[in-house]
Amino acid sequence: MKINQNYLDLKNSYLFSTVAKKISAYKEANPDKKVIRMDIGDVTLPLCGAVVTALRKAVEDMSQKETFRGYGPEQGYDFLREAIAGYYAKIGVALSADEIFVSDGAKSDIGNMLDLFDRDNNVLIPDPVYPVYRDTNIMAGRRISFIEANAGNNFLPMPDQAGSADIIYLCSPNNPTGAVYSHEQLKSWVDYANGRGAVIFFDAAYESFVGEAALPRSIFEIPGAETCAVEFCSFSKTAGFTGTRCGYTVVPHALVCGETKLRDMWLRRQTTKFNGVPYIVQRAAEAVFTPEGLFETRKNIAYYMENGKLIAKTMRELGITFVGGETSPYIWMQCGMDSWDYFDMLLERANVTGTPGAGFGRAGEGYFRLTAFGTQEATAEAMERMKALKKIDPAF
Ligand code: MLT
Repeated sequence: MKINQNYLDLKNSYLFSTVAKKISAYKEANPDKKVIRMDIGDVTLPLCGAVVTALRKAVEDMSQKETFRGYGPEQGYDFLREAIAGYYAKIGVALSADEIFVSDGAKSDIGNMLDLFDRDNNVLIPDPVYPVYRDTNIMAGRRISFIEANAGNNFLPMPDQAGSADIIYLCSPNNPTGAVYSHEQLKSWVDYANGRGAVIFFDAAYESFVGEAALPRSIFEIPGAETCAVEFCSFSKTAGFTGTRCGYTVVPHALVCGETKLRDMWLRRQTTKFNGVPYIVQRAAEAVFTPEGLFETRKNIAYYMENGKLIAKTMRELGITFVGGETSPYIWMQCGMDSWDYFDMLLERANVTGTPGAGFGRAGEGYFRLTAFGTQEATAEAMERMKALKKIDPAF
Protein backbone atom coordinates (compact mmCIF):
# COMPACT_ATOMS: atom_id res chain seq x y z
CA MET A 1 0.00 0.00 0.00
CA LYS A 2 0.90 3.63 -0.31
CA ILE A 3 -0.45 6.16 2.16
CA ASN A 4 -1.55 9.70 1.44
CA GLN A 5 1.78 11.39 2.21
CA ASN A 6 0.04 14.73 2.58
CA TYR A 7 -1.10 13.64 6.05
CA LEU A 8 2.54 13.81 7.11
CA ASP A 9 2.44 17.55 6.44
CA LEU A 10 -0.26 18.06 9.08
CA LYS A 11 0.45 18.93 12.71
CA ASN A 12 0.09 15.57 14.43
CA SER A 13 -3.07 16.52 16.30
CA TYR A 14 -6.12 18.63 15.46
CA LEU A 15 -6.09 21.92 17.39
CA PHE A 16 -9.08 21.24 19.62
CA SER A 17 -7.88 17.70 20.36
CA THR A 18 -4.49 19.06 21.47
CA VAL A 19 -6.18 21.60 23.74
CA ALA A 20 -8.52 18.95 25.20
CA LYS A 21 -5.59 16.58 25.85
CA LYS A 22 -3.65 19.28 27.69
CA ILE A 23 -6.68 20.10 29.83
CA SER A 24 -7.31 16.42 30.67
CA ALA A 25 -3.67 15.97 31.69
CA TYR A 26 -3.87 19.05 33.91
CA LYS A 27 -7.11 17.87 35.53
CA GLU A 28 -5.71 14.40 36.14
CA ALA A 29 -2.68 15.88 37.88
CA ASN A 30 -4.82 18.41 39.80
CA PRO A 31 -8.12 16.66 40.61
CA ASP A 32 -9.02 19.29 43.25
CA LYS A 33 -8.98 22.22 40.78
CA LYS A 34 -12.19 23.47 39.20
CA VAL A 35 -11.25 24.24 35.61
CA ILE A 36 -13.52 26.58 33.63
CA ARG A 37 -13.44 25.81 29.93
CA MET A 38 -13.58 28.67 27.47
CA ASP A 39 -11.70 26.91 24.69
CA ILE A 40 -13.74 24.94 22.11
CA GLY A 41 -16.97 26.70 21.14
CA ASP A 42 -19.26 24.08 22.61
CA VAL A 43 -22.71 25.11 23.77
CA THR A 44 -23.88 24.61 27.35
CA LEU A 45 -27.63 25.31 27.21
CA PRO A 46 -29.89 22.29 26.57
CA LEU A 47 -31.99 21.91 23.44
CA CYS A 48 -34.99 24.23 23.56
CA GLY A 49 -38.54 23.04 24.30
CA ALA A 50 -39.79 23.15 20.69
CA VAL A 51 -36.87 20.98 19.56
CA VAL A 52 -37.31 18.46 22.38
CA THR A 53 -41.05 18.16 21.68
CA ALA A 54 -40.31 17.51 17.98
CA LEU A 55 -37.66 14.92 18.88
CA ARG A 56 -40.10 13.06 21.14
CA LYS A 57 -42.80 13.13 18.48
CA ALA A 58 -40.31 11.86 15.87
CA VAL A 59 -39.27 8.98 18.16
CA GLU A 60 -42.97 8.14 18.43
CA ASP A 61 -43.22 8.19 14.60
CA MET A 62 -40.34 5.73 14.43
CA SER A 63 -42.10 3.38 16.86
CA GLN A 64 -45.26 2.96 14.73
CA LYS A 65 -45.55 0.88 11.57
CA GLU A 66 -47.54 3.61 9.78
CA THR A 67 -45.09 6.44 10.43
CA PHE A 68 -41.77 4.58 10.62
CA ARG A 69 -39.04 5.81 8.21
CA GLY A 70 -36.06 3.91 6.85
CA TYR A 71 -33.54 5.46 4.47
CA GLY A 72 -34.37 9.08 3.83
CA PRO A 73 -33.39 11.23 0.86
CA GLU A 74 -29.60 11.77 0.94
CA GLN A 75 -30.05 15.53 0.50
CA GLY A 76 -32.52 15.80 3.40
CA TYR A 77 -36.29 15.59 3.83
CA ASP A 78 -38.40 18.15 1.96
CA PHE A 79 -39.97 19.36 5.22
CA LEU A 80 -36.57 20.52 6.52
CA ARG A 81 -35.24 21.89 3.23
CA GLU A 82 -38.43 23.90 2.79
CA ALA A 83 -38.17 25.22 6.35
CA ILE A 84 -34.58 26.31 5.65
CA ALA A 85 -35.65 28.00 2.40
CA GLY A 86 -38.33 29.82 4.43
CA TYR A 87 -35.67 31.03 6.88
CA TYR A 88 -33.61 32.46 4.01
CA ALA A 89 -36.72 34.09 2.51
CA LYS A 90 -37.05 36.14 5.71
CA ILE A 91 -33.72 37.84 4.96
CA GLY A 92 -34.73 38.37 1.34
CA VAL A 93 -32.81 35.42 -0.13
CA ALA A 94 -34.84 33.30 -2.54
CA LEU A 95 -33.59 29.70 -2.68
CA SER A 96 -35.27 26.64 -4.00
CA ALA A 97 -35.33 23.63 -1.68
CA ASP A 98 -33.27 21.60 -4.15
CA GLU A 99 -30.34 24.00 -3.71
CA ILE A 100 -30.23 23.05 -0.01
CA PHE A 101 -28.51 19.90 1.24
CA VAL A 102 -28.93 18.71 4.82
CA SER A 103 -25.94 17.09 6.50
CA ASP A 104 -24.50 16.16 9.87
CA GLY A 105 -22.78 19.53 10.20
CA ALA A 106 -20.84 22.29 8.48
CA LYS A 107 -17.44 20.83 9.37
CA SER A 108 -18.03 17.64 7.35
CA ASP A 109 -19.43 19.52 4.37
CA ILE A 110 -16.58 22.03 4.32
CA GLY A 111 -14.13 19.16 4.07
CA ASN A 112 -16.23 17.03 1.72
CA MET A 113 -16.93 19.87 -0.74
CA LEU A 114 -13.30 19.66 -1.83
CA ASP A 115 -14.14 16.35 -3.58
CA LEU A 116 -15.63 18.50 -6.35
CA PHE A 117 -12.42 20.36 -7.09
CA ASP A 118 -9.21 19.44 -8.82
CA ARG A 119 -6.04 19.33 -6.79
CA ASP A 120 -4.68 21.98 -9.16
CA ASN A 121 -6.43 25.01 -7.66
CA ASN A 122 -5.00 27.93 -5.72
CA VAL A 123 -6.62 27.98 -2.31
CA LEU A 124 -6.88 31.22 -0.37
CA ILE A 125 -7.38 30.99 3.36
CA PRO A 126 -7.52 33.80 5.89
CA ASP A 127 -5.03 33.62 8.75
CA PRO A 128 -6.04 33.15 11.55
CA VAL A 129 -8.72 30.66 10.60
CA TYR A 130 -10.93 27.74 11.65
CA PRO A 131 -8.29 25.00 11.21
CA VAL A 132 -10.56 22.72 9.16
CA TYR A 133 -10.10 24.89 6.03
CA ARG A 134 -6.33 24.59 6.18
CA ASP A 135 -6.06 20.96 7.31
CA THR A 136 -8.48 19.56 4.70
CA ASN A 137 -6.51 21.25 1.92
CA ILE A 138 -3.20 20.01 3.31
CA MET A 139 -4.69 16.49 3.29
CA ALA A 140 -5.50 16.94 -0.40
CA GLY A 141 -2.06 18.38 -1.19
CA ARG A 142 -3.33 21.69 -2.58
CA ARG A 143 -1.39 24.93 -2.88
CA ILE A 144 -2.48 27.24 -0.09
CA SER A 145 -1.90 30.98 0.25
CA PHE A 146 -2.80 32.77 3.42
CA ILE A 147 -4.26 36.24 3.67
CA GLU A 148 -3.66 37.95 6.98
CA ALA A 149 -6.49 39.19 9.16
CA ASN A 150 -4.93 41.66 11.55
CA ALA A 151 -5.61 44.87 13.45
CA GLY A 152 -4.52 46.80 10.33
CA ASN A 153 -7.47 45.52 8.28
CA ASN A 154 -9.87 45.22 11.24
CA PHE A 155 -9.44 41.44 10.93
CA LEU A 156 -11.32 41.54 7.61
CA PRO A 157 -8.91 40.90 4.74
CA MET A 158 -10.05 42.14 1.33
CA PRO A 159 -9.47 40.93 -2.25
CA ASP A 160 -6.77 43.50 -3.00
CA GLN A 161 -4.48 41.19 -1.01
CA ALA A 162 -5.83 38.03 -2.63
CA GLY A 163 -3.44 37.30 -5.50
CA SER A 164 -4.79 34.67 -7.88
CA ALA A 165 -7.16 32.54 -5.89
CA ASP A 166 -9.48 29.82 -7.23
CA ILE A 167 -11.05 28.62 -3.98
CA ILE A 168 -11.59 31.28 -1.32
CA TYR A 169 -12.64 30.64 2.27
CA LEU A 170 -14.59 33.32 4.13
CA CYS A 171 -16.19 33.03 7.57
CA SER A 172 -18.43 35.81 8.86
CA PRO A 173 -19.08 36.30 11.78
CA ASN A 174 -15.56 35.04 11.96
CA ASN A 175 -14.15 32.18 13.89
CA PRO A 176 -11.78 32.91 15.63
CA THR A 177 -11.71 36.73 15.51
CA GLY A 178 -15.42 37.56 15.76
CA ALA A 179 -15.10 40.15 12.95
CA VAL A 180 -18.09 40.52 10.59
CA TYR A 181 -17.97 41.62 6.93
CA SER A 182 -20.31 44.39 5.77
CA HIS A 183 -22.47 44.08 2.63
CA GLU A 184 -20.04 46.28 0.70
CA GLN A 185 -17.02 44.24 1.75
CA LEU A 186 -18.67 40.96 0.76
CA LYS A 187 -19.69 42.54 -2.54
CA SER A 188 -15.98 43.15 -3.26
CA TRP A 189 -15.27 39.47 -2.66
CA VAL A 190 -18.20 38.40 -4.85
CA ASP A 191 -17.03 40.69 -7.67
CA TYR A 192 -13.49 39.39 -7.32
CA ALA A 193 -14.64 35.74 -7.44
CA ASN A 194 -16.98 36.29 -10.39
CA GLY A 195 -14.27 38.21 -12.23
CA ARG A 196 -11.82 35.33 -11.87
CA GLY A 197 -14.21 32.37 -12.11
CA ALA A 198 -13.28 31.48 -8.52
CA VAL A 199 -15.53 29.92 -5.90
CA ILE A 200 -16.15 31.25 -2.38
CA PHE A 201 -16.69 28.76 0.44
CA PHE A 202 -18.74 30.89 2.82
CA ASP A 203 -19.00 29.61 6.38
CA ALA A 204 -22.13 31.09 7.98
CA ALA A 205 -22.13 28.90 11.10
CA TYR A 206 -22.32 31.96 13.36
CA GLU A 207 -24.96 33.89 11.38
CA SER A 208 -27.49 33.89 14.22
CA PHE A 209 -25.12 36.04 16.30
CA VAL A 210 -25.54 38.95 13.89
CA GLY A 211 -28.88 39.60 15.62
CA GLU A 212 -30.52 42.87 14.59
CA ALA A 213 -27.27 44.41 13.31
CA ALA A 214 -27.37 45.66 9.71
CA LEU A 215 -24.77 43.12 8.63
CA PRO A 216 -25.10 40.20 6.22
CA ARG A 217 -26.04 36.79 7.61
CA SER A 218 -25.67 35.02 4.28
CA ILE A 219 -23.44 35.59 1.27
CA PHE A 220 -26.56 35.19 -0.87
CA GLU A 221 -27.72 38.60 0.37
CA ILE A 222 -25.05 39.91 -2.00
CA PRO A 223 -26.07 40.26 -5.67
CA GLY A 224 -23.99 37.95 -7.85
CA ALA A 225 -23.13 35.48 -5.08
CA GLU A 226 -25.28 32.79 -6.68
CA THR A 227 -22.74 32.42 -9.49
CA CYS A 228 -19.67 32.15 -7.26
CA ALA A 229 -20.51 30.90 -3.77
CA VAL A 230 -21.36 27.87 -1.72
CA GLU A 231 -22.65 28.48 1.81
CA PHE A 232 -22.22 26.19 4.82
CA CYS A 233 -24.39 26.56 7.88
CA SER A 234 -25.15 24.61 11.00
CA PHE A 235 -27.64 24.16 13.81
CA SER A 236 -24.76 23.62 16.26
CA LYS A 237 -24.37 27.18 17.46
CA THR A 238 -27.80 28.48 16.45
CA ALA A 239 -29.79 25.83 18.28
CA GLY A 240 -27.35 23.90 20.46
CA PHE A 241 -26.95 20.91 18.11
CA THR A 242 -23.22 20.29 18.72
CA GLY A 243 -24.11 16.85 20.04
CA THR A 244 -27.26 16.33 17.97
CA ARG A 245 -25.49 16.96 14.63
CA CYS A 246 -27.25 18.74 11.80
CA GLY A 247 -26.20 21.36 9.28
CA TYR A 248 -26.88 22.37 5.70
CA THR A 249 -25.09 23.54 2.61
CA VAL A 250 -26.46 25.73 -0.16
CA VAL A 251 -25.19 25.11 -3.69
CA PRO A 252 -27.09 27.37 -6.12
CA HIS A 253 -28.16 26.18 -9.56
CA ALA A 254 -26.41 29.20 -11.08
CA LEU A 255 -22.98 28.10 -9.81
CA VAL A 256 -21.33 26.48 -12.81
CA CYS A 257 -17.90 25.62 -14.09
CA GLY A 258 -18.18 25.63 -17.88
CA GLU A 259 -21.31 23.59 -18.57
CA THR A 260 -21.21 21.73 -15.25
CA LYS A 261 -23.44 22.64 -12.33
CA LEU A 262 -21.68 22.28 -9.01
CA ARG A 263 -25.07 21.63 -7.45
CA ASP A 264 -25.45 18.48 -9.55
CA MET A 265 -21.93 17.34 -8.72
CA TRP A 266 -22.63 17.80 -5.01
CA LEU A 267 -25.86 15.83 -5.32
CA ARG A 268 -23.94 13.06 -7.07
CA ARG A 269 -21.30 13.11 -4.35
CA GLN A 270 -23.81 13.06 -1.49
CA THR A 271 -26.00 10.32 -2.97
CA THR A 272 -22.90 8.17 -3.38
CA LYS A 273 -21.06 8.82 -0.14
CA PHE A 274 -23.75 9.89 2.35
CA ASN A 275 -26.99 8.34 3.56
CA GLY A 276 -28.61 11.33 5.15
CA VAL A 277 -29.24 12.66 8.63
CA PRO A 278 -31.51 10.68 10.99
CA TYR A 279 -35.21 11.41 10.58
CA ILE A 280 -35.59 12.34 14.26
CA VAL A 281 -32.75 14.87 14.02
CA GLN A 282 -34.25 16.46 10.90
CA ARG A 283 -37.61 16.78 12.67
CA ALA A 284 -35.77 18.43 15.58
CA ALA A 285 -34.04 20.83 13.17
CA GLU A 286 -37.34 21.65 11.46
CA ALA A 287 -38.71 22.73 14.86
CA VAL A 288 -35.97 25.39 15.11
CA PHE A 289 -37.85 27.37 12.41
CA THR A 290 -41.28 27.28 14.08
CA PRO A 291 -42.30 30.50 15.88
CA GLU A 292 -41.64 28.84 19.28
CA GLY A 293 -38.33 27.41 18.05
CA LEU A 294 -37.16 30.76 16.73
CA PHE A 295 -38.21 32.51 19.94
CA GLU A 296 -36.49 29.99 22.19
CA THR A 297 -33.28 29.73 20.18
CA ARG A 298 -33.01 33.54 20.04
CA LYS A 299 -33.36 33.58 23.80
CA ASN A 300 -30.45 31.15 24.08
CA ILE A 301 -28.32 33.23 21.72
CA ALA A 302 -29.12 36.31 23.84
CA TYR A 303 -27.94 34.37 26.91
CA TYR A 304 -24.56 33.67 25.27
CA MET A 305 -24.32 37.26 24.07
CA GLU A 306 -24.60 38.39 27.71
CA ASN A 307 -21.45 36.35 28.30
CA GLY A 308 -19.84 38.06 25.30
CA LYS A 309 -20.66 41.46 26.79
CA LEU A 310 -19.31 40.49 30.19
CA ILE A 311 -16.05 39.19 28.70
CA ALA A 312 -15.72 42.39 26.62
CA LYS A 313 -16.34 44.53 29.72
CA THR A 314 -13.70 42.58 31.65
CA MET A 315 -11.17 42.96 28.83
CA ARG A 316 -11.75 46.72 28.88
CA GLU A 317 -11.31 46.83 32.66
CA LEU A 318 -8.07 44.87 32.35
CA GLY A 319 -6.83 47.10 29.54
CA ILE A 320 -6.60 44.14 27.14
CA THR A 321 -7.05 44.90 23.42
CA PHE A 322 -9.66 42.63 21.85
CA VAL A 323 -12.24 42.25 19.06
CA GLY A 324 -15.49 40.31 18.84
CA GLY A 325 -18.03 39.48 21.49
CA GLU A 326 -20.81 41.75 20.25
CA THR A 327 -21.96 40.12 17.00
CA SER A 328 -20.12 36.86 17.52
CA PRO A 329 -19.62 34.37 20.34
CA TYR A 330 -15.83 34.68 20.30
CA ILE A 331 -13.50 37.21 21.89
CA TRP A 332 -10.11 37.52 20.22
CA MET A 333 -7.79 39.10 22.79
CA GLN A 334 -4.20 40.18 22.59
CA CYS A 335 -2.26 38.08 25.09
CA GLY A 336 1.08 39.83 24.70
CA MET A 337 3.13 36.62 24.74
CA ASP A 338 3.43 33.24 23.03
CA SER A 339 -0.16 32.07 22.94
CA TRP A 340 0.58 28.49 24.08
CA ASP A 341 2.55 29.89 27.04
CA TYR A 342 -0.44 32.07 27.82
CA PHE A 343 -2.68 28.99 27.65
CA ASP A 344 -0.47 27.16 30.17
CA MET A 345 -0.22 30.18 32.42
CA LEU A 346 -3.98 30.83 32.46
CA LEU A 347 -4.73 27.15 33.05
CA GLU A 348 -2.23 26.81 35.87
CA ARG A 349 -2.77 30.12 37.61
CA ALA A 350 -6.49 30.79 37.06
CA ASN A 351 -7.76 27.34 36.06
CA VAL A 352 -9.37 28.95 33.02
CA THR A 353 -8.88 27.69 29.47
CA GLY A 354 -9.07 29.32 26.05
CA THR A 355 -7.66 28.53 22.61
CA PRO A 356 -4.15 29.72 21.73
CA GLY A 357 -4.22 32.03 18.72
CA ALA A 358 -1.25 30.27 17.11
CA GLY A 359 -3.49 27.21 16.67
CA PHE A 360 -5.52 29.21 14.15
CA GLY A 361 -2.51 30.19 12.08
CA ARG A 362 0.76 32.10 12.17
CA ALA A 363 -0.99 35.47 12.29
CA GLY A 364 -2.87 34.28 15.40
CA GLU A 365 0.32 34.26 17.44
CA GLY A 366 0.12 36.77 20.30
CA TYR A 367 -3.66 36.33 20.49
CA PHE A 368 -5.97 34.13 22.50
CA ARG A 369 -9.60 33.14 21.86
CA LEU A 370 -12.26 32.97 24.56
CA THR A 371 -15.72 31.56 23.91
CA ALA A 372 -19.00 32.98 25.16
CA PHE A 373 -20.75 29.58 25.03
CA GLY A 374 -20.22 28.78 28.73
CA THR A 375 -22.83 29.11 31.46
CA GLN A 376 -23.24 32.64 32.79
CA GLU A 377 -22.10 31.50 36.25
CA ALA A 378 -18.89 29.91 34.93
CA THR A 379 -18.16 32.88 32.66
CA ALA A 380 -18.59 35.35 35.53
CA GLU A 381 -16.34 33.22 37.74
CA ALA A 382 -13.69 32.99 34.99
CA MET A 383 -13.70 36.77 34.59
CA GLU A 384 -13.27 37.23 38.36
CA ARG A 385 -10.32 34.85 38.26
CA MET A 386 -8.70 36.78 35.40
CA LYS A 387 -9.15 40.05 37.31
CA ALA A 388 -7.64 38.50 40.46
CA LEU A 389 -4.67 37.25 38.45
CA LYS A 390 -4.10 40.72 37.02
CA LYS A 391 -4.05 42.15 40.57
CA ILE A 392 -1.26 39.86 41.71
CA ASP A 393 0.57 39.93 38.38
CA PRO A 394 0.15 43.21 36.48
CA ALA A 395 2.22 41.74 33.61
CA PHE A 396 -0.59 39.29 32.91
C1 MLT B 1 -14.63 26.12 17.56
O1 MLT B 1 -14.44 26.14 18.77
O2 MLT B 1 -13.93 26.74 16.76
C2 MLT B 1 -15.76 25.31 17.04
O3 MLT B 1 -16.58 24.90 18.06
C3 MLT B 1 -15.26 24.12 16.36
C4 MLT B 1 -16.29 23.55 15.45
O4 MLT B 1 -17.36 24.13 15.23
O5 MLT B 1 -15.99 22.50 14.90
